[in-house]
Amino acid sequence: MTLRTTILATTLLAATPALADVNVYSHRQPELIAPLTKAFTAKTGIRVNVAFLESGLVERLKAEGDRSPADVILTVDIARLAEAMDAGVTQPLITDTLEANVPAAYHDPEGHWWGVTTRARIVYASREATKVGDITTYEDLANPKWKGRICTRSGTHSYMIGLTSAYLVHHGSEETKTWLAGLKNNLARRPQGDDRAQVKAIWAGECDISLGNTYYMGKMLADPEQKVWADSVRLDFPVFEGHGTHVNISGVALTKAAKNVAEATQFIEFLTSPEAQEIYAEANSEYPIAPGSQPSELVASWGSFVADDLNLITIAGARAEALRLTQEVDYDG
Ligand SMILES: [Fe+2]
Repeated sequence: MTLRTTILATTLLAATPALADVNVYSHRQPELIAPLTKAFTAKTGIRVNVAFLESGLVERLKAEGDRSPADVILTVDIARLAEAMDAGVTQPLITDTLEANVPAAYHDPEGHWWGVTTRARIVYASREATKVGDITTYEDLANPKWKGRICTRSGTHSYMIGLTSAYLVHHGSEETKTWLAGLKNNLARRPQGDDRAQVKAIWAGECDISLGNTYYMGKMLADPEQKVWADSVRLDFPVFEGHGTHVNISGVALTKAAKNVAEATQFIEFLTSPEAQEIYAEANSEYPIAPGSQPSELVASWGSFVADDLNLITIAGARAEALRLTQEVDYDG
């Protein structure tokens, strides 16, 4: 019996070519990634090692150069994906599977990065002080009728810069500057805190309207202290006049220094599969983007929307100008 088992094991070992591990640098939290790496390993036998980095992912890859152990990076926001690409730490990867799973607006045309999920940047509005239909466009947020009623985080945060960049692509510099100045003029207080802090301010009666990413609703609902903040607001999905709602992505890229390209490619393809997108989206209350995939019941209950038609690469290209305009109107001042 023992002998037979040993022989069988040896035969299996000899028949299976050695599979390398995939090494990942992730800006995304380990809890979010664990169900995916587990499912991938169960399916392929390839192990995934994840190093969670709070910040400085691109700097670290640059410093490590060719010696970097990372094959794959996982991060959020087109700004960070574009930053990695611009820094030269990614390499192009295009496969039929990736192209089938990820719509063109959500990947680099040359394959330097691939979107896995989206989040919309929308309005959180006081249930008490506003009603459905009050806020339907981003443009309207600069209308003086909202004076003293809006709260936002710093205008220079990447989430705000992403939205302002989209505004810039739609309307040009001059109108964007006017919009930023108008929005600043409507603020109830100096920009401070994160997206959730604005919802807390609505709950506390400091303002009636804020901007935030959709998934923070899921995070607040799951937190006993923050649930009351979430319950005080309604999610409104504004659009750019004549277009859609601003979205951003979480994404994945193959590093330039990747040693285990075949295994990493399999992992990246797996991450973009409808199955993995749905697991990933549910874990962080985001939207899967593969054709035919569905958001979780909770996320679907917030309402549906049409995403803006701009390619994210265009938005990324407008970041520097968006930051300049934000500083010019002294948005945080
Ligand atoms: Fe966030």
